[in-house]
Amino acid sequence: MNRTRRLRKTENIRRLVRENKLTIDDLIYPLFIEEGENIETEIVSMPGIKRFSLDTISKELDEVVALDIPAVLLFGIPSKKDATGSETWNDDGIMQQAVRFIKKSYPSLYVITDVCFCEYTSHGHCGIIHDNDVDNDATLPNIAKQVISHAKAGVDMVAPSGMMDGMIATIREALDNTGFTNIPIMSYAVKYSSAFYGPFRDAADSAPTFGDRRTYQMDPSNRDEGLREATFDDQEGADILMVKPALSYLDIIRDLKNNFDRPIACYNVSGEYAMIKAAAANGWIDGERVMMESLLSMKRAGADIIITYFAKEVAKVLSKK
Ligand code: PBG
Repeated sequence: MNRTRRLRKTENIRRLVRENKLTIDDLIYPLFIEEGENIETEIVSMPGIKRFSLDTISKELDEVVALDIPAVLLFGIPSKKDATGSETWNDDGIMQQAVRFIKKSYPSLYVITDVCFCEYTSHGHCGIIHDNDVDNDATLPNIAKQVISHAKAGVDMVAPSGMMDGMIATIREALDNTGFTNIPIMSYAVKYSSAFYGPFRDAADSAPTFGDRRTYQMDPSNRDEGLREATFDDQEGADILMVKPALSYLDIIRDLKNNFDRPIACYNVSGEYAMIKAAAANGWIDGERVMMESLLSMKRAGADIIITYFAKEVAKVLSKK
């Protein structure tokens, strides 16, 4: 008889046949950095995650480095916003200051910046508004200015999240023309218009003041379109392709893994984090085991890289083993 249970008998045989593993090497930890002083604000819907100002963030970074987490993904929260999000290309803006500070104080830590406008615009959308909608082509030159400014500050990699058509080609050209040919692009290639971003929008103060993001982020009903999005970004020169959110989109992660010869990343977003934290706090689930199982499912689906608010916790669990 075929007995699949033979290979499950003991932990050691299970170890030998185990197909997928979550490791610290897979993790990117997001950080929210707010302009100002003495800020260390708990984000209520994301227990354990805080907004820091640059003068309070060192202990968080010390911990990230001590846990051997390879990379951080930075989100800036500026003190002033305007219609175009012009603070995004201010060489002394919060993101640029943060990059310079982290690269100087923690040179080995790999620093990635989120390239977007929604935290920086007065209306909370990811670009310039014309006729009540984001104007794709008018936004592209501003994306170029923003990445050049991040590059000059010393960023290791940029991660555009605005879902503008042509953004990857624009960024590659801007970086190449200014001598930053070695800075890779991790594209939020397949990003859905998702309710799972709720807690993040509080954390980053980036909720749109009118309408929603459905004219630029993808419809959660669509799968084939994900391949089309990823194909364009692949052709335009994205180095890493990301799927976001992760848990409700494992099919898309697998599609990308099967179809592209590029590293695949996924973003385990704020709502996914909040749900596990809330259920665990109520004693309804074993938070640690559900965390590990969820992240493992992303690896099994085909993710090479996982961006997660759980990164520190996961690293602690893994380093105990
Ligand atoms: C946009 C951006 C968003 C997230 C990352 N980058 C939010 C959005 O599109 O509204 C969401 C991350 C999360 O929910 O954890 N700059």
